[in-house]
Amino acid sequence: MRTTVGIIGAGPAGLLLARLLHVAGIDSVVLESRDRAYVEQRQRAGILEQGTTDVLRAAGAGERMDREGLRHDGIELRFARRRHRVDFPALTGGRSVTVYAQTEVCKDLIALQSKEGGPLLFEAEALAVEDAGTDRPRVPFRHEGREDVLVCDYVVGCDGFRGVSRRAVPAGTGRVFERTYPFGWLGVLADVPPFHDELVYARHDRGFALLSMRSPVVSRLYLQVPRDTDARSWSDDEIWAELERRFATDDDWRLERGPITQKSVTPMRSFVHEPMRHGRLFLAGDAAHIVPPTGAKGLNLAVGDVVTFARALAHRRLTGSAELLDAYSATCLRRVWQAERFSHDMTTLLHRAPGGDPFDDRLQLARLERLASSRAAETDLAEAYTGFAFE
Ligand code: APR
Ligand code: PHB
Repeated sequence: MRTTVGIIGAGPAGLLLARLLHVAGIDSVVLESRDRAYVEQRQRAGILEQGTTDVLRAAGAGERMDREGLRHDGIELRFARRRHRVDFPALTGGRSVTVYAQTEVCKDLIALQSKEGGPLLFEAEALAVEDAGTDRPRVPFRHEGREDVLVCDYVVGCDGFRGVSRRAVPAGTGRVFERTYPFGWLGVLADVPPFHDELVYARHDRGFALLSMRSPVVSRLYLQVPRDTDARSWSDDEIWAELERRFATDDDWRLERGPITQKSVTPMRSFVHEPMRHGRLFLAGDAAHIVPPTGAKGLNLAVGDVVTFARALAHRRLTGSAELLDAYSATCLRRVWQAERFSHDMTTLLHRAPGGDPFDDRLQLARLERLASSRAAETDLAEAYTGFAFE
């Protein structure tokens, strides 16, 4: 098999890249190891920056998002039994975010690609990336019990944190920056209307809690738990009781319970692989970097990477200049590190380290008080949350 751009992975990064290349008249083949139903149902985040919705719309993938996505003009911070709302448009000159689940973004992009794009092969596992240092990189893969090879001009590794493409970067030419946190998130989906019409980020002595949503009748809720927690060790009643404690305020706020339909635990880590390129292999999305989910940046970073790659390749085709392709890694990493900084700040602002250091607790509360009383501090959060512009 022969193509211009071999894309490994059909998460949001790989799917959007295939779409952007199709729109630019560049052919690609996508290899995805899992089946379509799995990719369409895997629960992930759901906050789209304005830049992300603009890109999806321009790529022709915004129709259902514009109908069903929920525009959010702020978030609520809860701490010390109080609430504080951060008003995004007022602080950023009109910017907001959209709540539209990653599962839905993936469904929309898969439908488009199947209708009018290049090959998108499910249950096709890339086994390696070979000859990345030459101008004919190759991806051996297994599909329907047979082994085949995809020969490309470029390979983009969109295969997530556990994929194969990062391994094709020879040891010694790359560098990893990493932080693991001693906690994870227990995430649940519940068939109950969200108790607030915007996301609520809560700091509590017992740990962090978050209210998000999937629709006006489905809540997505998270609790900070120790890193190696088994989701089955939490009963539904225990989850609701803990949510009630961590979101508690001094006003008349009440939590309505409902059936929990899904539970899982996600570990939290920060990770960056530099550079994001080796020869004709480009890394994008979770294959190159992970952020803890507190800043809701994972999906938006993946979008930034593939937009940067698609523009750079189109530029190369139009002008013959490889200048933008050569700048790919540095361009992406500037944005990546801003997201790493923000996600780490949000995480340490709101989570309680096991064993809790009383000095850290006081600092956290002081940082939250500062956010609640200084427009400058709040603006910093609002600008980062609604997203930095693509270069
Ligand atoms: N061959 C083919 N496909 C593979 C291989 C392989 N060897 N290894 C992994 N994959 C596929 C996975 O099955 C998955 O569908 O690559 C895809 C990677 O998708 P994601 O993990 O979703 O990563 P990405 O597209 O970079 O999305 C960015 O945003 O909300 C955040 O972290 C969240 O997934 C999210 C991310
Ligand atoms: C989600 O909706 O799953 C979500 C929202 C905001 C976050 C993380 C996850 O910061």
